[in-house]
Amino acid sequence: MQAGTLDAAQRVRSVDEEVLITSRTISVELRADLVFQMLEVLGQPRPSHWSRVWPASVAMSRWLLDQRVGSLPLSATELGCGMGLVSMTLAHLGLITEGTDREPLALAFALKNALLNGLIGFSASKLEWSEGKGVPTSLLVASDVVYEAGAPELLFALVETDGLLSPGGRLLLGVPRARTELLDTFVNRLQLGGYSHSEEARSVDWEGRAEAIDVHVLMRPA
Ligand SMILES: C[S@@+](CC[C@H](N)C(=O)[O-])C[C@H]1O[C@@H](n2cnc3c(N)ncnc32)[C@H](O)[C@@H]1O
Repeated sequence: MQAGTLDAAQRVRSVDEEVLITSRTISVELRADLVFQMLEVLGQPRPSHWSRVWPASVAMSRWLLDQRVGSLPLSATELGCGMGLVSMTLAHLGLITEGTDREPLALAFALKNALLNGLIGFSASKLEWSEGKGVPTSLLVASDVVYEAGAPELLFALVETDGLLSPGGRLLLGVPRARTELLDTFVNRLQLGGYSHSEEARSVDWEGRAEAIDVHVLMRPA
């Protein structure tokens, strides 16, 4: 990632009101021939995890780009999309992609980022895991979303009990290796339910540091 440049304030519609938001533009290089320009939101009160592009999303995007042509389905849903990088990568690969998050401003900026990079086939909608069920999908992706104590329980209910992931479908998780305890709880629960599991280690240079990220692939029994 290159250092960001401070932008003029962005005007975005959040829920019912139009608000002015301070942002910066960063370059995210996924491959030598694929660099996205992305807005990140600045100056938000905590918690503001949604407002930045996280290295797990870069690792997962590169993992997706490395997959064999034709091995991905025609559509996908992202959970906790934040600024939208993974959804944008899926749209770039030609999948009809729905980015979801609980934070309306994240959805507004994910849409802006997709437009900024000329991507089509991307939509954004609100999905709070404790409330919504969403439309079942055969490819569910999520990067750096398992960090709150209740996340394993909520995600299991959404993915398995409520059936957001179709039988035979794949769940991809990008996870910083520094924080795996909650992830292990979630993965163990899915494995007990018969899901197959594999993982691949990746490293991403991000803001001057090498970040170790694991990409987990979980397959729901058919
Ligand atoms: C650390 S950020 C990661 C953002 C993006 N996936 C990335 O890797 O750059 C976590 C995201 O998950 C979303 N999130 C966390 N808990 C959520 C919940 N219960 N329902 C919906 N979204 C949630 C946050 O709003 C935030 O956008």
